[in-house]
Amino acid sequence: MARHLHDGLVSSYGKAFLLAIMMHKTLAVAALQVPLVLSQAITTTAAANTCVVQPAPNGTDSAPAIIQAFQNCGHNDASSRGKVVFLNETYDIKSVMNITGLSNVDVDLQGTLLWDTNIDYWLNNSLPVGYQNQSSAWLFGGDSITWTGNGYGTLDGNGQTWYDFINGSSNYPGRPHQITITGTTNSVFEGIRFVQSQMWYVPYLSIQCYLDALL
Ligand SMILES: *[C@@H]1O[C@H](CO)[C@@H](O)[C@H](O)[C@H]1NC(C)=O
Ligand SMILES: *[C@@H]1O[C@H](CO)[C@@H](O)[C@H](O)[C@H]1NC(C)=O
Ligand SMILES: *[C@@H]1O[C@H](CO)[C@@H](O)[C@H](O)[C@H]1NC(C)=O
Ligand SMILES: *[C@@H]1O[C@H](CO)[C@@H](O)[C@H](O)[C@H]1NC(C)=O
Ligand SMILES: *[C@@H]1O[C@H](CO)[C@@H](O)[C@H](O)[C@H]1NC(C)=O
Ligand SMILES: *[C@@H]1O[C@H](CO)[C@@H](O)[C@H](O)[C@H]1NC(C)=O
Repeated sequence: MARHLHDGLVSSYGKAFLLAIMMHKTLAVAALQVPLVLSQAITTTAAANTCVVQPAPNGTDSAPAIIQAFQNCGHNDASSRGKVVFLNETYDIKSVMNITGLSNVDVDLQGTLLWDTNIDYWLNNSLPVGYQNQSSAWLFGGDSITWTGNGYGTLDGNGQTWYDFINGSSNYPGRPHQITITGTTNSVFEGIRFVQSQMWYVPYLSIQCYLDALL
């Protein structure tokens, strides 16, 4: 019951769109317990495997907290799904994230992830995705992931800086994709707004799920 998506679900620079992927599966919402603070950056409710990511203060890099949240709450048995929650706030992303091999996790994106525009950094550090010499700011994937953006949760690549930088050429080496969904099965991504991707919107590599994209 899985359909492969080809790699070319891309384009439309500078235009926001909603991506909805539907599957025969309902979102399991873990009940929030009284929060237990494990570190400054993440609030976890132990019983529900729920991690609430706190934005890093003063526009500093939230990537380490996001990586930590998925490490803590992103690897679960089917019988006790985990959850990662992004608050209705802005999370600045200033470094690459490689968050793969997840299992049985629900992602609730209520705010905005805003990528930094340090072009030098991204050109030097973007993660290779293994085809066409392309690279990504964020590798993300696993089995049985449901991600909802609630219709307003946003991934903002701050792309204008890149559009200006590349002067209209399309595939500048090291210019990253915003997020690359890779090695992903049985998963649902819905209600996410993509704004000004650094390059292309969400290339899919070996993802198995049903997709209905509203461009
Ligand atoms: C954030 O910036 C403000 C003003 O620049 C400063 O007073 C405050 O101490 C900073 N907070 C942190 C956590 O760095
Ligand atoms: C998110 O927060 C902003 C203000 O910070 C508010 O205007 C907006 O209504 C909030 N959105 C939702 C969906 O709660
Ligand atoms: C990127 O790499 C170049 C060449 O290695 C180096 O000169 C530059 O400082 C690096 N920039 C950043 C932001 O890492
Ligand atoms: C991302 O992490 C996975 C798992 O640790 C690793 O196998 C892979 O090589 C990493 N990819 C990159 C581009 O660093
Ligand atoms: C784009 O044009 C500007 C101004 O002409 C130049 O400085 C810059 O190097 C160009 N960018 C690329 C990626 O060639
Ligand atoms: C791949 O990108 C590197 C820079 O990151 C560049 O030096 C190389 O020529 C590119 N290769 C191809 C086949 O485009």
